[in-house]
Amino acid sequence: MSDLENAVLVTGGTAGIGLASAVALADKGFKVFVTGRSAPGLEAAVQADPRLTAIQADSSDLASIQAVADRIRAEGATLRVLVVNAGTAETTKLGQTDIATFDRTFDLNVKGVFFTVQTLEPLLIDGASVILIGSIVSIKGMADLSVYNASKAAVRSFARSWANDLRGRRIRVNTLSPGPVRTPLVQRLRGGDAASLDAFEAWAAEASPSGRIGQPEDIADVVTFLASDAARHVNGVELFVDGGLAQI
Ligand SMILES: NC(=O)c1ccc[n+]([C@@H]2O[C@H](COP(=O)([O-])OP(=O)(O)OC[C@H]3O[C@@H](n4cnc5c(N)ncnc54)[C@H](OP(=O)(O)O)[C@@H]3O)[C@@H](O)[C@H]2O)c1
Repeated sequence: MSDLENAVLVTGGTAGIGLASAVALADKGFKVFVTGRSAPGLEAAVQADPRLTAIQADSSDLASIQAVADRIRAEGATLRVLVVNAGTAETTKLGQTDIATFDRTFDLNVKGVFFTVQTLEPLLIDGASVILIGSIVSIKGMADLSVYNASKAAVRSFARSWANDLRGRRIRVNTLSPGPVRTPLVQRLRGGDAASLDAFEAWAAEASPSGRIGQPEDIADVVTFLASDAARHVNGVELFVDGGLAQI
């Protein structure tokens, strides 16, 4: 099998969970495409791992998603694995949230996820694995994050529906829902403030039976499992990877 028949797309694959997943999948021998919006971010990802093929794209923009599909098709590749990872989180205090903030979250985390899978589906081989990156907030009412929480509940629902919709092609669709993970997203949510980040990590360590915040590699290892034949009978699940935080 040529590596073009064994390709992977990781959306938002230039930092955090997406980059760690892309590197882990490249380690397994896949040809890996990654997307991201920022050109310097894409360059840095390819510098960090020259096996990655970078495509500049905005997953909340339908024309941009179509351009990703066109580029992968032009390279002659088909996808064995699709990791729909690009996502955002912003504070949305009830009573203080404007429509633009609401729309940014839903445009990427819900609309972007739907149209990424719809647009890329023709490039997926029969028996492919689709992995949606959700969050434990799909089942938790984390304070001041209700819009993000709801967006991830939608992701969990998409996986269940698409496992059914794509059954004819034996395509598995699962949600991988991380707990808190040390990434640039969490740093941004804490306003880039070191003391606030320390306090958040201390809370995550205390709240989780594993006693620590997650690392991107903790998530990437489970992405490679869901991508693999070892997970051939795992379909439609929401798999929590949170050290037990949301389970107790
Ligand atoms: N970190 C956590 O604690 C945590 C917990 C649970 C779930 N998650 C979920 O895990 C996923 C990844 O989170 P992360 O913490 O790794 O995020 P991150 O550190 O902010 O990295 C996000 C990645 O996605 C890209 N990206 C952002 N917006 C994009 C867009 N509109 N189109 C294409 N690419 C985009 C970013 O590059 P550019 O900015 O250059 O586009 C970057 O490569 C998200 O779905 C998030 O909700 C994270």
